[in-house]
Amino acid sequence: MYYEINHPLVKHKLTVLRNESTHHKQFRELSSELTMLIAYDAMKKLETVNCPVHTPLAGTMGAKLKNDIVIIPILRAGVGMMDGMLSLIPNARVGFMGIYRDHDTKLPVTYYEKLPSDLVDPYFFIIDPMLATGGSIVATIDALHEKGFTQITVISIISAPEGIKMVEEHHPNVDIYTGSIDECLDENKYIIPGLGDAGDRLFGTK
Ligand code: PRP
Ligand code: URA
Repeated sequence: MYYEINHPLVKHKLTVLRNESTHHKQFRELSSELTMLIAYDAMKKLETVNCPVHTPLAGTMGAKLKNDIVIIPILRAGVGMMDGMLSLIPNARVGFMGIYRDHDTKLPVTYYEKLPSDLVDPYFFIIDPMLATGGSIVATIDALHEKGFTQITVISIISAPEGIKMVEEHHPNVDIYTGSIDECLDENKYIIPGLGDAGDRLFGTK
């Protein structure tokens, strides 16, 4: 399933993020804020286990997250969403997937992979601001499945319908939470209207 977060704050912040005049400092701040707003909704389905707690006045039953939470930013641009995720779950572990799209074929090329080990019942959040063709996300889910991990949710800031379709076709059990489903991809497989190259805008490389 896919979910587009329909919230006035998301719409407002996305509009500033898209603006070509928004520079990398504000772009980074907005990326973090949008990540928190989208992820808050995506984390609704996390399970909890009962956990007793003593307040200064009484004992009561509380709850704690059941799973080991693992955040997987797709390099580079996924790093711009990492702080937002860690603000919500500070003790999450972080694994990295290094993937870039080949300039000519637009297909994903994996150049780095580092996942945490000794995970107990892990739940993965893959984060990448742009879900364009879907190739990078599908490659990341494939890599997790190869290791036997199945509890996975994708969080993106902007998605193309083509990318959502591709992820759903390859991995129908993986949910996608996104701030916006845009119109389409252009001939270079960039999202229209999108926001341009997320990595370059985050890190000021162009
Ligand atoms: C961008 C983006 C995604 C990918 C999305 O990365 O951050 O990872 O493209 O495209 P897809 O859905 O068609 O796979 P890019 O290849 O520009 O690498 P970078 O983050 O290192 O700049
Ligand atoms: N990667 C980006 O950074 N932007 C797009 O629109 C598509 C892929």
